[in-house]
Amino acid sequence: MDSKVKEAYEYISNHTSKRPKIALILGSGLGFLADNVEGGESISYRDIPNFPYSTAPGHEGKFVFGKLFGREVVVLNGRFHIYEGWDPTDIKMVFHTLKLFGIEKMLITNASGAVNTSYVPGDIVMVKDIINLMFRNPLRGPNDEDMGPRFPDMLGAFDREWMERVKSVFPEMKEGVYIGLTGPSYETPAEIRAVRKMGADLVGMSTVPELIICAHVGIKAIVFSCATNMAAGILEKPLSHKEVLEVADLVKEKFTKIVEKALEVVW
Ligand code: HPA
Repeated sequence: MDSKVKEAYEYISNHTSKRPKIALILGSGLGFLADNVEGGESISYRDIPNFPYSTAPGHEGKFVFGKLFGREVVVLNGRFHIYEGWDPTDIKMVFHTLKLFGIEKMLITNASGAVNTSYVPGDIVMVKDIINLMFRNPLRGPNDEDMGPRFPDMLGAFDREWMERVKSVFPEMKEGVYIGLTGPSYETPAEIRAVRKMGADLVGMSTVPELIICAHVGIKAIVFSCATNMAAGILEKPLSHKEVLEVADLVKEKFTKIVEKALEVVW
């Protein structure tokens, strides 16, 4: 076991009495859900030994432990992106800490650009598969056999049964393939045409390293992506982070409902 992970785990264990089995990652503009956590105890990433911390606007950078819609959870309000300069292995460190802490399920959210032209801004799409176009893999380097196998099967990342249960509550929910690029520049129109040919429906700058680590350590994930904008070149207007945050804000109610139901049917 990595001593840095152990140290971080011990710090967290000593600073909360909560022991949730479900973690939620809140994407750009979706951090408001952390406000719904009851009896919340926060731990700032900056206070945890060896931990990376979020620098992206719209990401707060703390764990919130408490009850969300009746379930014990830990919310990661703020995630770690490669574009911030974090190495994918920093993300791995965070997830290994969560695994040690006892996390079994992960509800991942993100904001994305819609590559699929049948989507509209504000759509919340269930991610059914991913394409790693980040040219990086968080599992590079020596394998921690305590955590998982050297060559994990990626199908293991998704909790298909949980996804089916959510789909039966929201049969109209769109499903799509998410492609991860590192950013932070948005894509060019040519890149969007290229990734569409590769089979992508959504494009974003997160989630992919997280899912790879989930597959490795055996945390079962479900991913909801809020398509905050049409991807580059589809509409005649520049992309902006302001628009991403504004659209994420508009879907608050819909998003909250989906997370509520997903937590209801998690097991
Ligand atoms: N591209 C990449 N990431 C994003 C986008 C986008 O268009 N929108 C929100 N996150």
